[in-house]
Amino acid sequence: PSETGRVLSIQSHTVQGYVGNKSAVFPLQLLGYDVDPINSLIEGLEANDLLFYTHLLTGYIGSVSFLNTVLEVISKLRSVNPKLTYVCDPVMGDEGKLYVPPELVAVYREKVVPVASMLTPNQFEAEQLTGLRIVSEQDGLEACNILHAAGPPKVVITSISIDGNLRLIGSHQKEKGQSPEQFKIMIPKIPAYFTGTGDLMTALLLGWSNKYPNNLDKAAELAVSSVQALLLRTLNDYKAVDYDPQSSSLEIRLIQSQDDIRHPQMLIIKQKL
Ligand code: ATP
Ligand code: PLP
Ligand code: MG
Ligand code: NA
Ligand code: MG
Repeated sequence: PSETGRVLSIQSHTVQGYVGNKSAVFPLQLLGYDVDPINSLIEGLEANDLLFYTHLLTGYIGSVSFLNTVLEVISKLRSVNPKLTYVCDPVMGDEGKLYVPPELVAVYREKVVPVASMLTPNQFEAEQLTGLRIVSEQDGLEACNILHAAGPPKVVITSISIDGNLRLIGSHQKEKGQSPEQFKIMIPKIPAYFTGTGDLMTALLLGWSNKYPNNLDKAAELAVSSVQALLLRTLNDYKAVDYDPQSSSLEIRLIQSQDDIRHPQMLIIKQKL
């Protein structure tokens, strides 16, 4: 499918290594998107009449003032293109710990979630946003329902850890007030700790769900397939140099996995719920 777009991606930047925009821009470009990464300011775009975007993607945002600026950006972009799709990864923490100031949670919950088109929290972030404790698949589905009621028609909880296994839960509410189409993808857990994978996953979900706007399950299946292939390559490369994958986090082999991003091999099977 050839559907593409013009994406404004507001995320963190790293000089070395692949997280934030470094983990999101390249895969979207491989899928055919024009991507403009920025770390903070929008004045330059506005002054030059460059505010037409099809998509806004946000990731790690470290302060309330920056998050409020992003809210202003959303309304400016929507005033230029009312059909703008806003894909929000509400990056706040993981494994029971917040890594942003706690005041951000309420801003995401009250102001950002309501304007998002697609939301991609992890398990902990979904708990923060809904007040639910998520320990089962059923809890994950319930969290998606609560989040739909707050705003976004598409919700993907990118990973829930249950009994040592990972699963992704997706939910698409096609009409406001109607029950959503929900699915899960079982993800074999690789015994290593990676960074940048959440940012990559959200970028791929944006890329594929725009090409398959009525098949969030297919989009997620394609995204998970690419990520799994990339993680296995990463693990193999580290093993080849005699590195203990459990000792610290592994830098994803993003550039080396370009074929897996462009042409995912569908090894992963979704299940409709
Ligand atoms: P966030 O960026 O909000 O923290 P997240 O916590 O869901 O998102 P990750 O836990 O890094 O991000 O997972 C994102 C995706 O990466 C998962 O859906 C899964 O496909 C893959 N993934 C990450 N770690 C592993 C792992 N150890 N084994 C298998 N898949 C993994
Ligand atoms: N480190 C930095 C600087 C980040 O910005 C992020 C996420 O945006 C991470 C680490 C974690 O990345 P991920 O959740 O994609 O693994
Ligand atoms: Mg995680
Ligand atoms: Na996520
Ligand atoms: Mg992340």
